Amino acid sequence: MEEHSQEREKLVFLETFGCQMNDNDSERMLGILKGINFARTDDPCSADLILINTCTVRDKAEQKVYSTLGRYKELKKERPGLIIGVGGCVAQQQGEKLLKRAPHLDIVFGPHNVHKLRELLIEADSGRRVVATRLTETIDCDEYGVSPSASGEKAFVSIMRGCNNFCSYCIVPYTRGREVSRQSADIISEIEAAAAAGVKEVTLLGQNVNSYGTSGGGDVSFPELLKLVCRVEGVKRVRFVTSHPKDIGDELIELFGHEKKLCRHLHLPVQSGSDAILARMGRGYTSGEYFSKIEKIKKLYPEMSITTDIIVGFPGETEADFASTMDLLRKVRFDNIFSFMYSPRPNTKAASFEGQLPLDVRTGRLQVLQEEQKQITIERNRETIGKKMEVFVEGPSRGNPDEMMGRTSCNRIVNFALAAGMSAAPGDIMEVFVTDAYANSLRASAGR
Ligand code: SAH
Ligand code: SF4
Ligand code: F3S
Repeated sequence: MEEHSQEREKLVFLETFGCQMNDNDSERMLGILKGINFARTDDPCSADLILINTCTVRDKAEQKVYSTLGRYKELKKERPGLIIGVGGCVAQQQGEKLLKRAPHLDIVFGPHNVHKLRELLIEADSGRRVVATRLTETIDCDEYGVSPSASGEKAFVSIMRGCNNFCSYCIVPYTRGREVSRQSADIISEIEAAAAAGVKEVTLLGQNVNSYGTSGGGDVSFPELLKLVCRVEGVKRVRFVTSHPKDIGDELIELFGHEKKLCRHLHLPVQSGSDAILARMGRGYTSGEYFSKIEKIKKLYPEMSITTDIIVGFPGETEADFASTMDLLRKVRFDNIFSFMYSPRPNTKAASFEGQLPLDVRTGRLQVLQEEQKQITIERNRETIGKKMEVFVEGPSRGNPDEMMGRTSCNRIVNFALAAGMSAAPGDIMEVFVTDAYANSLRASAGR
């Protein structure tokens, strides 16, 4: 310990792609690095260590990694002492092959090896190129030992890892391994520590949070875990992603009625509105079953915001299949969607399905879908005009530092002006009055 404090502080440049799991893993990397005298820099040219945390969910994401990596080739030539590491899902998928592809790369480490970063750096420092892509069936006792380094009012907490669903298009089960849940006591102590450090909003993370505790570890059900999290003192808001439509049950839906801290937002990826496509995706529900769950939720909680993920151009998707997706979009009237063009991924079943669609068909459908949704999102946002809403204050507004920015319980961004004499600090919850609405945000006023 003494030794480290006398060493020169080193600098790490870290770039993160992909989902919130990767964001969370990056925070854990920074936590480990902080313990061995590294500070973060936003200038790669001054860094002693460059880390890229990667995503391979679609081909575009994977290609971005190679071009990013290429950019650091010259830097390594100029400063041979520089260590470059690639973590995340491309690292897991490519392993050893990445070292061959990029001779300037020192470390390749998959998502189950984040907690080994310190040892990997020692090896790399001694001149060895290392690959750590072991996928483990259980969670190592020290895997979540170092808390994420994130500071501020919001924290993301992984409650499980991996996925057992093997949707036919998806690479995630191959890069993140089998589903394993963390023990509830570990999760709660991580959240208690975060709350003691000032965190007021917690988002629980998992590829399929509804199956928390049902396979590979975890000692309570997901609704029970949520109740425990809501009881942590200092936590004002609780969110979670991602729910799977086939697994979301009545107990969770009812919980929204009892737990005030549970935010009124549900991200429920539907992927397609066509039953034939859903069956070939291996999603385990029909469009009708999905819609009846949504109707039930909306009836109980009219203020609930529902968002989704949609893939267009899945192999064999006909015009009629696509029309069913458009129908579902109009019927549900999602508050927002994340939409993607189907991208064939290595090892997945769908990559070898017949009927792969040409790029122009996939692009065309994506455009049609996004234009329709844009209108729906604006309309849904405009429905909030004239309403009072509680916002979680995040800080000054980006466009106008005299105003504040916050988020509603239903996860909408709100920019608002404070009345004379009022003040607001990040992490405060305050009531605002919505005065206008746009595609990506609301306007409001606080006080009179
Ligand atoms: N576990 C989450 C999300 C995982 S990946 C879930 O089940 O919903 C996030 C989103 O990426 C998916 O919901 C899906 O819409 C999209 N996606 C995954 N694989 C894809 C592929 N091969 N092509 C296009 N989009 C894909
Ligand atoms: Fe991928 Fe399906 Fe698992 Fe989500 S549930 S991570 S889409 S396999
Ligand atoms: Fe990407 Fe891996 Fe997440 S493939 S979406 S970073 S689980």
